[in-house]
Amino acid sequence: MSEGLAWLPQALAELRDADLLRELTYCASSPGPEVSVDGEPHLLLASNNYLGLATHPAVLKGAHDAIDRYGAGAGASRLVTGSLDLHRRLEERLAALKSSQDALVFPTGYQANVGTIPVLAGPGDTIFSDELNHASIIDGCRLSRAEVVRYRHADPDALEDAVRATRSTGRRVIVTDTVFSMDGDLAPLPALVDIAERHGCTLMVDEAHATGVLGPSGAGAIEHFGLGGRVPVVMGTLSKALGAQGGYVATNRELADLLRTRARGFVFTTALAPAAVGAALAALDVVRDEPWRRERVHANASRLSEQAQELGFRVLRRDAAVVGVLVGEAADALAAGAALRAERVWAPAIRPPSVPPGTSRLRLTVMASHDDGHLEWALRALSAARQTVAA
Ligand SMILES: Cc1ncc(COP(=O)(O)O)c(C=O)c1O
Repeated sequence: MSEGLAWLPQALAELRDADLLRELTYCASSPGPEVSVDGEPHLLLASNNYLGLATHPAVLKGAHDAIDRYGAGAGASRLVTGSLDLHRRLEERLAALKSSQDALVFPTGYQANVGTIPVLAGPGDTIFSDELNHASIIDGCRLSRAEVVRYRHADPDALEDAVRATRSTGRRVIVTDTVFSMDGDLAPLPALVDIAERHGCTLMVDEAHATGVLGPSGAGAIEHFGLGGRVPVVMGTLSKALGAQGGYVATNRELADLLRTRARGFVFTTALAPAAVGAALAALDVVRDEPWRRERVHANASRLSEQAQELGFRVLRRDAAVVGVLVGEAADALAAGAALRAERVWAPAIRPPSVPPGTSRLRLTVMASHDDGHLEWALRALSAARQTVAA
């Protein structure tokens, strides 16, 4: 090994000793309710393919048709020759979904956040960020070089105190997940909207885990709370309930124009691949036309959450498809994850830095395509995992 990299073995050993080394497990099938791992069928309880759309025939057809017409890759960044009329069609659909004037599609949700936040705020400005926001928001805040004030999770009073206390005369941005990715609870959006409007702050929300799952038509948390038109910057992903890949920001025309010029995660990267765009467009139709999928996700999530509580697990508040089962230390969460795996349930332990130290957990997610048999399988496995945690 080159001398300059001689620090690597120790860095890896330290992570391993702290139960924080992450390793990949390879899956040989699509993210359906059952997947093939090491040649064995496993119950999948860890995918964000909440509505089962990653394998929906109409979504697959959307992807295939886009490949046939536009090819496998877009071939350049959006500002060079990568912008397809298909991208624009998707942006118009997303703008309508989120009650915004315009929208912009990014190759990933991660890029949407790290590309957009530094355009909204920079040095001399202040960002108020929920302490449990997703890593891509945290990274966007860091890249902005604005002052970042983390407020207590989902606490509007703590946010308003922080906004009142700021002395900065620069721009003020409030940013929050709507459904928190690792906990599964919902931000108090109506109160956040009021605070933003009262204090002249810009509110940006991340609808990654709400789109397709919440709201009468599946438009997300903004629709769920009846706040259409009152959230000026709405970010989301195409890669979770929509079953495709990519991210987006729905906003007003001026900000969309500025993002097209200034968002580095949009400008300096190849455009989203046609297959993902075609799949996402078809998925939006399915979200609209098959509301039973949403109902099923909520019914499955309630049942899984109740099962875990009856077994004595500490289950976090659940508002969407994510069921957070708190374990505590990383080693215990690993043991619980291993117990699930022994029962052929795939739901890896979630450890720092994805969650704060001492809050390692099983992050269980349900899909519309899980049936009663799958939930009984989950119950058996959770019961085995409970023994491990209690021991
Ligand atoms: C809340 C949240 N925002 C953004 C992202 C990033 O989205 P993508 O997976 O499309 O990059 C994720 C993905 O895990 C997420 O959970």
